[in-house]
Amino acid sequence: MTKEWVFGNARIVTASEIIAGAVLVRDGMIADISQSGAARIDSDLDGAYLLPGLVELHTDHLESHYRPRPGVAWPAIGALLAHDAQIAAAGITTVFDALRAGTFDAETGGLRRANGELSQAIAQGRKTDMLRADHRIHLRCELPCPDTFETAEELVEEGLVDLLSVMDHTPGERQFVSLDKFREYYLGKKIMSAERLEVFIVERREMNILHSDRNRRAIVNLAIAKGLKLASHDDATLEHVAEALADGVTISEFPTTEEAVRAAHTNGLAVLMGAPNLVRGGSHSGNIPTADVAKAQCLDLMSSDYVPASLLHAAFALPQNVPSITLPEAVTVVSRNPARVMGLDDRGEIAPGKRADLIEVRLMDDHPVVRTVWRAGQRVV
Ligand SMILES: [Fe+2]
Repeated sequence: MTKEWVFGNARIVTASEIIAGAVLVRDGMIADISQSGAARIDSDLDGAYLLPGLVELHTDHLESHYRPRPGVAWPAIGALLAHDAQIAAAGITTVFDALRAGTFDAETGGLRRANGELSQAIAQGRKTDMLRADHRIHLRCELPCPDTFETAEELVEEGLVDLLSVMDHTPGERQFVSLDKFREYYLGKKIMSAERLEVFIVERREMNILHSDRNRRAIVNLAIAKGLKLASHDDATLEHVAEALADGVTISEFPTTEEAVRAAHTNGLAVLMGAPNLVRGGSHSGNIPTADVAKAQCLDLMSSDYVPASLLHAAFALPQNVPSITLPEAVTVVSRNPARVMGLDDRGEIAPGKRADLIEVRLMDDHPVVRTVWRAGQRVV
């Protein structure tokens, strides 16, 4: 039986404009958008915004539920459910959960166990339809670690990975081009003494020489062989961008300099920047601010990174930071663009024929507040 539902009295944010009117949903799909008053209204939005469900490509937020305290492992399915509730309540209906391949510690069993448990929980959650959002896996591969490729291959072979990225957090490289910045950042975290930090820097740079090139080649070949999308991480120089292009990369995650941002964007890579960076007014590691990337007209995607609610917050903050960007344009950066980049053409905007992934958002004290969320027409929040 056909099921129809009308969302009325809404400020509908499409990819190009805001329409005051109604959205007709039929069998979980958007069937029509009308400007005039609808004859029948099933959900009266009373002037609230109706946005497409947000699409998140890079969140490591699941980890904080799985390890709620140092040394404490929470059952994976419980961690996933708690994470899922927070993701959905943040207006995110499609999420790529970041897991990590590659550990710097001698003992690699812990990370492999964590990846196994979390990826199985996600697969089980999807199969049994217990999750509010649509969860996928983004496997971040830390190149200087000895076990990176083996860990990645294991998960990819099981068919659990949807997006691969290659990272290198060696001091003196990419995110930390400046060793002084690296020292400042690590000493600020008070994890180790200044003497220990110098030994640590030497060790990490040795690991980079030993493993990074081999791992990068193997991961790139794995992505090509399996037809998986690949992201580069913390591109800082023109050489990094050229390397990404040569390796068939689609997304440049968190490029750190204006030079890398411009080169990535103009050469067709989708530039992904942190939403927390925009909300906070700058990068926590001293790199290029998201707002500057937007001003340079190079901002293709945003990610909530470590704060799920930052994605919607940033979408509303972007037009305030960069007046040449409209709200509909800002919303495409967190919905249609990431969906398209990942080949999810069935979703990401309010348009006839797309999935009815919708969020009701109300501005309260100038803050965007998610009130209700629907995934494929089903209410999930
Ligand atoms: Fe990074």
